[in-house]
Amino acid sequence: NKKGFIFDLDGVIVDTAQYHYLAWKELADSLGISFSEVENEQLKGVSRIRSLEKILEMGNMTLAQDEFDRLITNKNADYLSYVEGMTREEILADVPRVLRFLSENGQRLALGSASKNARTILGKVGLMDQFDTIVDGTQVSKAKPDPEVFIRAAKELHVPAERCIVFEDALAGIQAANNAGMLSIGIGDPTVLREAAFVFSDFTKISNEFLNELIQA
Ligand code: BG6
Ligand code: MG
Repeated sequence: NKKGFIFDLDGVIVDTAQYHYLAWKELADSLGISFSEVENEQLKGVSRIRSLEKILEMGNMTLAQDEFDRLITNKNADYLSYVEGMTREEILADVPRVLRFLSENGQRLALGSASKNARTILGKVGLMDQFDTIVDGTQVSKAKPDPEVFIRAAKELHVPAERCIVFEDALAGIQAANNAGMLSIGIGDPTVLREAAFVFSDFTKISNEFLNELIQA
């Protein structure tokens, strides 16, 4: 009677959206495309390649494939220079409490992230050993809102999809969880995440009693 609890990484466990934003902003500036935190919101949960396509759409621009690839490589190097400085201080509030409570209560835990840098980031913040399995952007071909990443995580946990609960900060991620037939819990703004079954502003608002109800349900 175990449940599977699947956590997105960026924006759920750590606030890397700020670093993605800085790196994309530098790229957009170099192309003369205006890009603010409002536009950045549309890139949350979206794959690296799809993100650059969206930025180019914002600027009504197209690029030759080799230039596209060069910019993607630069952006990731730039992003990783921010990641390099990360420490466990950057784990978002009450994430360690929630992970501990769930594993102490015998639940199965997975990471389900679109990021190809997920393992690097978990290593930097010291959370590599907290999950029974990790599924990241190097292991899936279809981006959220496609449910592939969460379906694969559930398989690796040996828990059926209908017994899985997903924590997500991006609309594409909530849709992916819903498409997988899982219970979706939004972390962030309820107006953005309105398709989620529940929304909390952050993990400090998620009590152990609520987690217990999820386990028992
Ligand atoms: C998601 C982020 O988790 O991962 C996106 O929300 C990001 O902003 C995507 O583009 C891919 O990440 P990466 O690290 O492989 O470029
Ligand atoms: Mg996210």
